[in-house]
Amino acid sequence: MGTPRIWTKAFVGLVSFCAIGQAQTPTSSTTSSTSTSAQFTVPASANSALPVIPNIKDPLAVDAQAECPGYIASNIQQTSSGFTASLSLAGDACNVYGTDIEALELTVEYQTADRLHVAVQPTYLGATNESYYLIPEGIVAKPDVEQSNVVSDLEFSWSNKPSFGFEVTRKSTKDVLFSTKGKKLVYENQFIEFASSLPENYNLYGLGETVHGFRLGNNYTKTYYNADAGATIDVNVYGTHPFYMETRYFTENPDGSLSPDILLEPESITYRAIGGSIDLYFFQGPTQPEVTSSYLKAVGLPAMQQYWTFGFHQCRWGYKSWSDLQDIVDNHVKFGIPLETLWTDIDWMLRYRDFNNNPVGFDTATGKSFLQRLHDGGRHYVPIFDAAIYIPNPSDPSDAYPTFERGNQTGSFMQNPDGSLYIGDVWPGYTVFPDWLSQGAEAWWTKEFLLYYQDTPFDGAWVDMSEVSSFCVGSCGSGNLTLNPVHPWFPLPGESSNPVLYYPEGFNVTNSTEAAAASAAIASFSSAYPEPTASSTVSYFRTTPTAGVRDVNYPPYVINNVQGALGRSAMSPNATHADGTLEYDMHNLWGHSILKATYNALSAVFTGIRPFIIGRSTFAGSGSFAGHWGGDNWSNWPSMAFSIPQALQMSLLGIPMFGSDTCGFADNTDMELCNRWMQLSAFFPFYRNHNILGAISQEAYRWASVIDASKTAMSIRYQLLPYMYTLFYHAHTTGDTVMRALAWEFPNDPSLASADRQFMLGPSILVTPVLEPLATTVNGVFPGLIEGTEKWYDWYNNTAVPVPAQANTTIGAPLGHIPVYVRGGSVLPLQQTALTTRDARTSPWDVLVALDKNGNAKGDLYLDDGVSVQPDATLTVQFAVQDRKLDTVISHGGWIDGNSLQNITIWGVDGIDSAVKFNGRNVSSSNVMFDSDKHTLVVFGFNVSAWAGNQWTLEW
Ligand SMILES: *[C@@H]1O[C@H](CO)[C@@H](O)[C@H](O)[C@H]1NC(C)=O
Ligand SMILES: *[C@@H]1O[C@H](CO)[C@@H](O)[C@H](O)[C@H]1NC(C)=O
Ligand SMILES: *[C@@H]1O[C@H](CO)[C@@H](O)[C@H](O)[C@H]1NC(C)=O
Ligand SMILES: *[C@@H]1O[C@H](CO)[C@@H](O)[C@H](O)[C@H]1NC(C)=O
Repeated sequence: MGTPRIWTKAFVGLVSFCAIGQAQTPTSSTTSSTSTSAQFTVPASANSALPVIPNIKDPLAVDAQAECPGYIASNIQQTSSGFTASLSLAGDACNVYGTDIEALELTVEYQTADRLHVAVQPTYLGATNESYYLIPEGIVAKPDVEQSNVVSDLEFSWSNKPSFGFEVTRKSTKDVLFSTKGKKLVYENQFIEFASSLPENYNLYGLGETVHGFRLGNNYTKTYYNADAGATIDVNVYGTHPFYMETRYFTENPDGSLSPDILLEPESITYRAIGGSIDLYFFQGPTQPEVTSSYLKAVGLPAMQQYWTFGFHQCRWGYKSWSDLQDIVDNHVKFGIPLETLWTDIDWMLRYRDFNNNPVGFDTATGKSFLQRLHDGGRHYVPIFDAAIYIPNPSDPSDAYPTFERGNQTGSFMQNPDGSLYIGDVWPGYTVFPDWLSQGAEAWWTKEFLLYYQDTPFDGAWVDMSEVSSFCVGSCGSGNLTLNPVHPWFPLPGESSNPVLYYPEGFNVTNSTEAAAASAAIASFSSAYPEPTASSTVSYFRTTPTAGVRDVNYPPYVINNVQGALGRSAMSPNATHADGTLEYDMHNLWGHSILKATYNALSAVFTGIRPFIIGRSTFAGSGSFAGHWGGDNWSNWPSMAFSIPQALQMSLLGIPMFGSDTCGFADNTDMELCNRWMQLSAFFPFYRNHNILGAISQEAYRWASVIDASKTAMSIRYQLLPYMYTLFYHAHTTGDTVMRALAWEFPNDPSLASADRQFMLGPSILVTPVLEPLATTVNGVFPGLIEGTEKWYDWYNNTAVPVPAQANTTIGAPLGHIPVYVRGGSVLPLQQTALTTRDARTSPWDVLVALDKNGNAKGDLYLDDGVSVQPDATLTVQFAVQDRKLDTVISHGGWIDGNSLQNITIWGVDGIDSAVKFNGRNVSSSNVMFDSDKHTLVVFGFNVSAWAGNQWTLEW
């Protein structure tokens, strides 16, 4: 990923896809007073930084373990929750990548029975705060001691031989979960290193955000530096979630900390941070659900989402008017495809300025009537909001931008060290960036949303570019504002010098004529714009520590940042907050802070209603404010396959509201890929089709086969909406996961440790998608089926899956068919599919029972108004099946659902009694269908509201 060239595919991965965004619309620029003069294009050199070589790849790198003395612990003081100790340097300072800190304080505290906190901080914080940084209160959750003198299964021990090291063990099993013994602690003002041994071939998960296989493996470095670097694999990207879970068959151990490079190597994990402090939390588990729940209770349980957000969302970069959106609605209705929400990318804005509708195409008067119709139809609208704020051209009075003026007046923007505004470059041109540590920014942001809502009654917010991204290094707009609005240094997708040319793998087989034309276009383009030749003599820029002073732009230790120097394609590390805090220390929290601010803003706009926010940059705990999408991806098969481990990672990290750009963002999609992907994403919590500017259209109705495939999968999704909503309720209240790895649901089967080509939705639904082109079958496993511990039922033919000869089974999966199975032992409350969730919510209920091998099953249902933060009326239902009797217990908390009970379907029934009884009374045989071949019983004709009474029973 060297210096990108704009026309290469590699470039697009680094820059233009990084952003969602802009379109040079000739029609709209006629409203611009500056449109007559040629727009200034920022030179590409504006985004060049000095070449740096990541320490892990640097042959000249100094090994801190060899050079540094470590620490010696003394002065142990017992506390009610643990103890504290002093750590002092065990020898001469090494000053390898910073200045050694001589005196540290160790804090060990049992915060709850299942949470152990280990912290190491400089002793003299106040005196030397130039050199060290601790996250201020209130930015992220800082779990504290909740109980004193707890009894925990985790045991902390330490030793000074040969220097300070500690171990966390599990008392009950004597397992060593984490051990820094034998490895030195290095603690400098710009470098912290510590390491733990791990068992051979460890199973480690989490450490998001990254696009990588589900199980991380032991030859991998995870770097934490939030970067605008979508459509990448294995490198640092939008968010920071320094949490891992290690699974040992049969023990587990996770912990969390803040750190830029985390090296996973055979038998060890090494943390190397360029700042912050050591703040480790150990969660006892021992099972995945317990670990996840403890972690999420510590950082923030996932936000409850509004019911409608589980409907289908359609978006693209390139919807240019309200009438484009009307066409999208009309076409979905015409073809009978469910559609819940329309999204607009930056096209809606006047010259990409937040809160500012483009009067051409998106004028507010037309918008109001369009949105009224949309809302009347039960549908919703979510526009994009970018992190950066345009700063007007001071020489052009008509360029005034009140959003900027109001933010500047309230001191809401980031500054340079000299107190001037920090001015970067994003879609609108030169921009400033909100300062979430300033006194005014959150109130200003809320006010902007309130004002915007008066003109455009939107329903949720899509927050983009929040890493925070800037297309140049440093305050590149300072002194240049009279050139605003400027064009970025690279051509936008779809601009003539950056055409969209590529199609998915397999396209040449199914569409040979178009494929031939595309490859001819690629060939002529490549010869016109040859790839740059790599320079053979790069001399890397290295810095050495200066006593007591931090070099924040070029720290001595170089993390493995995908963008190279820290200031490249991002706000620079020396950008300064109102309280003097540097971006260096807050970088990974910027995206989290804007989500929190947006949550507060939407709470003000929609009083009492759950804010619906999808954000790009996240941190540990962001799930309590927002959902997340996978960011930029490609319209290709690997991107679709990677969406599964991405989603599982986000599940583990407490952001269940996750989905990927369905059918692919960058490049052209094709019928086959879009067909498979529309079906796959139907089982992800957040289900959105999104596309880049300039690529071919990819709404489901563009191809007959994709219409059918989408409707098939959506029909299952919409029937399962009550189940999905109930799963979210559990996620929100207890920290349960929604999308699940097979390894979590079947924790005793080591063969599932890496499984990420299949997944489960909650405990009951197994999805085995086709992830390759030109396939008619897919291989998958049915956990427990051969062993006889589990039963699985095919959703489509209502029958039990026969026991296969081998674990990896070939399953028929022609185009348009996504294999979906129900796990025996489940009771699923279902409603009918509809074009909107509003209509689905008023349809009759079915209850589907899939019996396990013992004839048992259970399930539950949670309902409320679907929108309130604190619903004052709820309804819960518990289902349990035993001895050929389904017991349904209904708890009324004031929510009334008057929909009737339609069918009760039971799979896995061996035989029925002479009479089937509902509430103890015989059901007329004309209302009973029993298929003894399929072992399926269907009972219907109840003529009652499903959840009106306190209970009902069905016996057979
Ligand atoms: C600032 O303006 C000068 C003068 O026009 C130009 O040479 C330079 O490239 C501009 N810098 C950026 C970062 O746009
Ligand atoms: C580790 O990964 C690197 C880079 O991906 C690769 O070159 C190397 O062969 C891998 N080492 C092992 C032992 O697999
Ligand atoms: C922003 O506000 C500062 C402080 O009030 C003021 O000095 C400055 O002129 C303003 N900048 C712009 C571009 O309006
Ligand atoms: C299609 O392209 C792939 C990858 O470039 C190639 O392996 C395959 O042979 C091509 N198939 C046809 C039918 O041209």
